[in-house]
Amino acid sequence: MAKAPEADAIVLFGGAGDLALRMLFPSLYFLDADGFLPEGFRIIAVARSELAAEDFRRQVREAVETRARPVAVDEAVWSRFAARLDYRAVDATQAGELKVVEAALAGARAPIFYLALSPSLYIGVCQALWASGLATPQSRIVLEKPIGQNLESSREINAALAEVFEEEQVFRIDHYLGKETVQNLIALRFANTLFEPLWNNLTIDHVQITVAETEGVGERWPYYDEYGALRDMVQNHVLQLLCLVAMEPPSDMDADSLRNEKVKVLRSLRPFTRHEAGQSSVRGQYVAGVAGGEAVAAYEAERGQPSATETFVALRVDIDNWRWAGVPFFLRTGKRLPERRTQIAIQFKGVPHSIFGGQATTDLTANRLVIDLQPDEDIELLLMNKAPGLSQGGMRLQSLPLSLSLLKAYSGPNSRRRIAYERLILDVIHGDNALFVRRDEVEQAWRWVDGVAEAWDEAAMAPRPYPAGSWGPAGAFALIERAGRAWYE
Ligand code: BG6
Repeated sequence: MAKAPEADAIVLFGGAGDLALRMLFPSLYFLDADGFLPEGFRIIAVARSELAAEDFRRQVREAVETRARPVAVDEAVWSRFAARLDYRAVDATQAGELKVVEAALAGARAPIFYLALSPSLYIGVCQALWASGLATPQSRIVLEKPIGQNLESSREINAALAEVFEEEQVFRIDHYLGKETVQNLIALRFANTLFEPLWNNLTIDHVQITVAETEGVGERWPYYDEYGALRDMVQNHVLQLLCLVAMEPPSDMDADSLRNEKVKVLRSLRPFTRHEAGQSSVRGQYVAGVAGGEAVAAYEAERGQPSATETFVALRVDIDNWRWAGVPFFLRTGKRLPERRTQIAIQFKGVPHSIFGGQATTDLTANRLVIDLQPDEDIELLLMNKAPGLSQGGMRLQSLPLSLSLLKAYSGPNSRRRIAYERLILDVIHGDNALFVRRDEVEQAWRWVDGVAEAWDEAAMAPRPYPAGSWGPAGAFALIERAGRAWYE
């Protein structure tokens, strides 16, 4: 496939919405500030409501200012950026109305169509892009998750996309893949010789992946209630992290090399059975509690009525392949947990025999590699050391971290934490799909997640309550304890 031309415009459908204002415009502004936007690159926001050009620019300016704080917006960059902006009120599912967009594109040859919209509109917009003639072989389309609500609906969306676009033109976003620290996982594993020889069931005991949020669902309930933590977080972000930890080394960083390896992991996930559901998974839903020192409401109170949707999920996952046979992966994610933490912990096995006097091997803490992705960006390797000083009857040993703080290592006057979308939008401009989710990948993830949901249904597993501000229902502790391990708090 020939290298895609550099994009020369972006059309943001849903351009007056929350995602566009919070993430997409600020990302585009920062790209412009760093000189990454091609000359003449146009930014056209499309939404249904009529909005005067000046009001639209003011909203974007406010959004950029909020994101840039405490640094002020650079006026020279802003005027260059503002000159690129345009706003059109259009119903994007009507091919006839897209004429307005065509005019605003002013002859751009390789536009990006970014669907920051409800997934229920994906198929309609896609068809309208085709019928209006805007979907050309040089154009590309970006879609936010969720791509469907299960395997069947994701297939329908993907089939509609495939009628209009080649797979290389499709960019399915999982914003976790745009995070620096998530990409650093690839560097950690494959730019060092140290870990890879140990990265298997001979040396690793188990893996824990935690994606904890302190926020509740709040006003997002109309979306969330239909999805729950399994479909909102596990199907995409958590499984992507698992894939990056578990995949075989790709032969290069080419989009397909990387994604082929991730799909292999997804295909090796052991399917859930009804029996498995009770043993290997826990669903939870937060009830009233205390979060961040404040009393907060139950999910059902936010929702306004009882709900069978989980806001927490913990899973024991087995990967049936040579590398990972016998190494459980424990996953957990939830809302209203005690802290915001995205963390991967690789627990190594203990030494086979202790030479330290009467000390049993169990007294020696086994090595652990802890990768904190957010809010801190740290990598820690816990190693056994001799505690300094004299002692009788053998050495005193102690576990200490060898740590690498990415924030400290890369802090400087001009350093700023980039928005994940900056990396992703830049890749779309250059037509690089490596950090986007391929069709077979998204469908394989849904296949497995559907299996979990079906097992829950068959076992009639309702979410268990947990107080807001706690680490989920007691069952989440029992799940890991049954396997003789414990969560790292
Ligand atoms: C989104 C989910 O994809 O990711 C949200 O829909 C969740 O429910 C969010 O809060 C978490 O993203 P981040 O970048 O804040 O960890």
